[in-house]
Parts: sequence; structure tokens; C-alpha cells
Amino acid sequence: MVEYDESEFLVETEVPEDELIISRTDLSGKITYANETFCDISGYHEDELLGKSHNIVRHPDMPSAAFKDLWETIKAKKQWIGIVKNLRKDKGFYWVEAIVSGVYKKGELVEYKSLRTPISYETKLKYQRLYDKMRAQDGEKIRKVIYE
Ligand SMILES: Cc1cc2nc3c(=O)[nH]c(=O)nc-3n(C[C@H](O)[C@H](O)[C@H](O)COP(=O)(O)O)c2cc1C
Repeated sequence: MVEYDESEFLVETEVPEDELIISRTDLSGKITYANETFCDISGYHEDELLGKSHNIVRHPDMPSAAFKDLWETIKAKKQWIGIVKNLRKDKGFYWVEAIVSGVYKKGELVEYKSLRTPISYETKLKYQRLYDKMRAQDGEKIRKVIYE
């Protein structure tokens, strides 16, 4: 269990428009690859990510239902596209649109991959509100984030 100083959460890292944040996982969700942009934006060194569960970047503002949907979708061999707020190593955050899907070798599912791109300010606001509501409905921990 990690404890956070709530004020640390308010530092946002902007995801650059011209770069992709890429990672791959094994079938259980452990990171097998992270590109340089992933490391830069999340604040981790590659060595700290490889072999770890991808939930290392899970932000507590994310409702569990979003990840349940993600796993059900990719296990059904479909592509999942969603808006994700991720946690940096320094407890700051960054928002992305993520496309998660299978990696196939000779027709066999061997890994999962994710490509992430930036989203607009309006989309961040919309999803912060939606995820706050989803966590409240599911009885999960709620925090309020104020954008100025
Ligand atoms: C390829 C791939 C990429 C993922 N990327 C993220 C991510 O960027 N952030 C995140 O919180 N979870 C991501 N997940 C989902 C995590 O595996 C995990 O389900 C989620 O963080 C919730 O944690 P929990 O399952 O331990 O509750 C990804 C999963 C896969 C398969």
C-alpha cells in the first residue's frame, strides 16, 4: 500500500503531440517493452518498468471498471480504445488516449501492445468528471481535482 500526499497529484506532464508512448506486456500484463517516450513521460528508467505489472502507472483516479472493460475487450481479441489518466513515478499525472490490442505471431496471441497519444484539455475535463462519477457509483475512493 502506497500513501500519497494529495498535493503531489496536481503536477501534470503534457504529452508531446509528435511522439507515441509505447509499451508491450505479456499476457498477464507484465511490461516487456517500454519506449524512450514512455520512460520520459512516466519518469521511470526502463529497468524499473520491465517485468513489473502495468498497474505501476495506474492512477487512483481511474475507475476499476475502465480496466475491467480493457481486459475483457483484449481477451476477446478486440482492440480497446480509451482515455487513461496515468501516474508518474513522482506522483504527477499525464492523460492519454490509449489503443490496446494483441500482438500476434503466426496467428497466435503472444503479447499485448499499447500506443498512446495526447488528448485535449476539454477531453481531460470530461473524463475527470466521468471517472469521478464512475468511482462514486462503484463506491471507490473519490478525490476532487480542480483545473484552473
Ligand atoms: C498493453 C497494456 C497496456 C496497459 N497500459 C496501462 C496504462 O497505461 N495505465 C494503466 O493504469 N493500466 C494499463 N494497463 C492495465 C493494467 O494491466 C491494469 O489492469 C490496470 O492498471 C489496473 O490495475 P489492476 O488490474 O491491478 O487493478 C495496460 C494493460 C495492457 C495489457
